[in-house]
Amino acid sequence: MRHVLLQAASALALGIVPALGIAPAAADVALGKAAFDRACASCHSVEPGKHGTGPSLAGVLGAKSATAKGFSYSPAMIAADLTWTEATLDAYLATGARSGGGDQLLHGVDMSFRGLAAGDRAALLAYLRSLPSR
Ligand code: HEC
Repeated sequence: MRHVLLQAASALALGIVPALGIAPAAADVALGKAAFDRACASCHSVEPGKHGTGPSLAGVLGAKSATAKGFSYSPAMIAADLTWTEATLDAYLATGARSGGGDQLLHGVDMSFRGLAAGDRAALLAYLRSLPSR
């Protein structure tokens, strides 16, 4: 009996997961916007050309590092020569730029930021992915 119930439960789960396929992504974007507003918006906008303490992050996914026009980057960020993929962004935001640890992606850049938890990073990437590219 228990076995039958388990089978029924997994059949149900298999049926439901594709049906909800779109919902988690939308939820992630909303969570990611909340994380952005909380952790990034004090220094970054997502409007092209609108810089604050940090450069505009409009279309940052897929862009080369230190290429937002009109922003004056630190020598360390200019030297980084990265492409902001989901992997490099995730690594950059995992440890922040001031932890000083050996696991830190970039050293000496001018972003005073202590890092973001994995769940918030995943949501944030979903949000950045939802923005138009540069
Ligand atoms: C206290 C201000 C501050 C906060 C908070 C902050 N940043 Fe930054 N960010 C900066 C500054 C300043 C730079 C430029 C660094 C440099 O030139 O060394 C930067 C650079 C960047 C870059 C590189 C952009 C490029 O054009 O190459 C990315 C990506 C980035 N930040 C993402 C984020 C995200 C995502 C968050 C939130 C999770 C965040 N930052 C929070 C100030 C901040």
